[in-house]
Parts: sequence; structure tokens; C-alpha cells
Amino acid sequence: MSPAPVMVRFRDTVKTFPGTHGEIRAVDGVSLDVHEGEVFGVIGYSGAGKSTLVRLINALEPVTSGQVVVDGVEVAGRPESELRRVRAGIGMIFQQFNLLSSRTVAGNVGYPLAVARWSRARRRARVAELLEFVGLSDKARQFPSQLSGGQKQRVGIARALATNPRLLLADEATSALDPETTQDVLDLLRRVNGELGVTVVVITHEMDVVKHLCDRVAVMEDGKVVELGEVYDVFSRPRHRATRRFVGSALRDRPSPGALERLRHRHPGRVVTVAVQEDGASSTDLTRALREHAVDGTIIYGGITEIAERPFGSLTLELEGDHGDVQAFIADLSRTTSVLDLGTAAAPIADPDATDLR
Ligand SMILES: Nc1ncnc2c1ncn2[C@@H]1O[C@H](COP(=O)(O)OP(=O)(O)O)[C@@H](O)[C@H]1O
Ligand SMILES: [Mg+2]
Repeated sequence: MSPAPVMVRFRDTVKTFPGTHGEIRAVDGVSLDVHEGEVFGVIGYSGAGKSTLVRLINALEPVTSGQVVVDGVEVAGRPESELRRVRAGIGMIFQQFNLLSSRTVAGNVGYPLAVARWSRARRRARVAELLEFVGLSDKARQFPSQLSGGQKQRVGIARALATNPRLLLADEATSALDPETTQDVLDLLRRVNGELGVTVVVITHEMDVVKHLCDRVAVMEDGKVVELGEVYDVFSRPRHRATRRFVGSALRDRPSPGALERLRHRHPGRVVTVAVQEDGASSTDLTRALREHAVDGTIIYGGITEIAERPFGSLTLELEGDHGDVQAFIADLSRTTSVLDLGTAAAPIADPDATDLR
């Protein structure tokens, strides 16, 4: 099977800004491909460089060095007159919706078509079609101020799709919405991808967005991509601290330092956190290992969820038994899964990924 054609290609891409304490490397040597037809997520904490990365795709910012190729066109160094054609193939939605308050819903959706000089009749037909797609046909004559946040974002999506772009960029598109509305907008973006075949690049600081929407994900920190791959692989076996923190904050499966200290005092045995993965230690593995090593295990914390219908998460256990048996149990289970030793109240071992921000 040949890989899907590339929609966006970054190669050694760098974007710097002048700062008061020297130059800021907002994007620091990024190389990655977004394939045609996929939903690609970029996740990272605030300041990681995510927005700058998307602004390089539609050439809102000039590249400092390296390549940015969009749908076969090298964007870097191209004159403004030619960039307009590239941008015409890209739709964009924003956290704050960016709707025109003086125009109706239909007026907002039809705005890019008016700019592109579509005839009134074609415009009207296209707007009706788009409002139908996003489920807002009955709101055509209302103004943005009369809509809920989720409805505003659906208008934003309809507007972004008006000229039939092949690529949609979503920068924190659900960050201003409550969880339920977020789900509706994510479902709509899935349909944009699945039914219309639009490639979608989603920028977010929320792991749930990536989990529900994306095929692949890049994790950014300090302008660099620190992990990249299929969503399940990246989140079920996070190698980078930033990724582990995202998993922890979304799943709340691992105790915070404060909770861990309380647990250690309540449970005098050895405390360990065991990863739960599809092909790693399932609960049967865990039960078998406990039995074979004459160790008693009590679950004292944990969380398990699914990504792409595959289980992942972790369980924290108190282990009781002879020191040697406990050691042998940890060594045995470590062969098939990741086991994090957190020690005991008398000899605590810190969780290297722990954060109180959970
Ligand atoms: N126009 C700009 N001028 C100066 N610094 C900027 C500009 N845009 C972004 N930055 C800096 O670049 C870094 C990355 O910012 P940004 O891409 O907005 O991150 P994110 O979207 O991940 O929060 C930050 O340190 C930010 O302050
Ligand atoms: Mg941003």
C-alpha cells in the first residue's frame, strides 16, 4: 500500500520572532507530513508554537527557514499575489469564532463567496446547502449575538467550507465551548472529514479533542515536535513528559503528589502504578502475576478509558508480601508492561511526571 499523498509538508521549518531577551524560536526545526484525507492533531501547552505552526500553513507568517509545502505548492518565499491562490484552498476556524456581528448567519457564511465574486443566485444556493450541512437552516436570518457558542462555531465551520477548501485548519476551535457543545462540534468536524473528504489540522491543548477526532497527533513543546504517531500509540505509550502530562490530566488515572502521599500513609505496602494497554498487562495478567508471586494487590487509584476502541490507562496498587516476592512480582510484570515503583511511606519514590495541575 502506498502512503496517502501529502497535503502539508514541513521540513526543518523554523520560525523566529524578535524578543526582548533575544530571538524567540516559536517553531524550531519541525519536520512532518500531514496526509491527504486525515485528521491531524497538534497538541501542546500554551506557548508551544502550535498557532505559529498553523499560521505558516496559510502563510499568514513568513517562514524564517526550511520548507512549508501545501498541496504541492512551496509556500516559503512565494510572493503575496501567488499566496492568495494557496489560501483559497484552505479554510480556517478560530476559538473566538471571528463572525461579523453586523451580518446575519447567511451573510457570514456567504461572505467569502461575495469576496470571490460569486453571483447572488449561486451564493444563495451554496449558503443554503452549507447551513443544511451544519444543521442551522432555521437560523439563516439571525445574527451571531442570538446564537449559542456551539451554533456560532457551526457558522464558522460553514463559512470556512464555503469555497470548497481541501484543507481545514482549526486553532483551538472548541476551547471556548462547554464539554457537551464541544462534542457536537467535534462530531461535525468528523463529518467534514468523512463526508466531504476535507483534510483537517486541529490545534488544541485538550487531549479529549485529539482522542475523539484525530487519526494522528504531533505533540509540541518549545517549538519542537517531541512525539508523533497514531493517536493510540502516542497516548498509550507516551515517551515524553509533556505527553504523559496530557494523558494524566485527561484521564486523571494517576494520583497527584498530595493524593499519593495520603495513599502511602493509608496503605503501608509498596505502591506501584501499572499501565493498562491492549497488548500489555490486562487485568488477567495482573491477577496471574499476583497469584504466582504470592503477593496481595489492592487497587487504590486508577482510570481506564478507550482510544479508537482500544483500552488504555493505569491502575495504582498497594502490594503486600515478602520483600523478595514483591520485587520478583515487579520484575515479572515489567517484562510485559510499564510498572512505576512509587515506594512506601517510609521510602517514597516520586512520580517523575507528577503534577498538581490535574
Ligand atoms: N507575533 C509574535 N511576535 C513575537 N512572539 C510571538 C509572536 N507570535 C507568537 N510568539 C511567541 O512564540 C511562541 C509560540 O507561540 P504560539 O505559536 O502562539 O503558541 P501556542 O499556540 O502553542 O500557544 C510564544 O513564546 C509566543 O510568545
Ligand atoms: Mg495558540
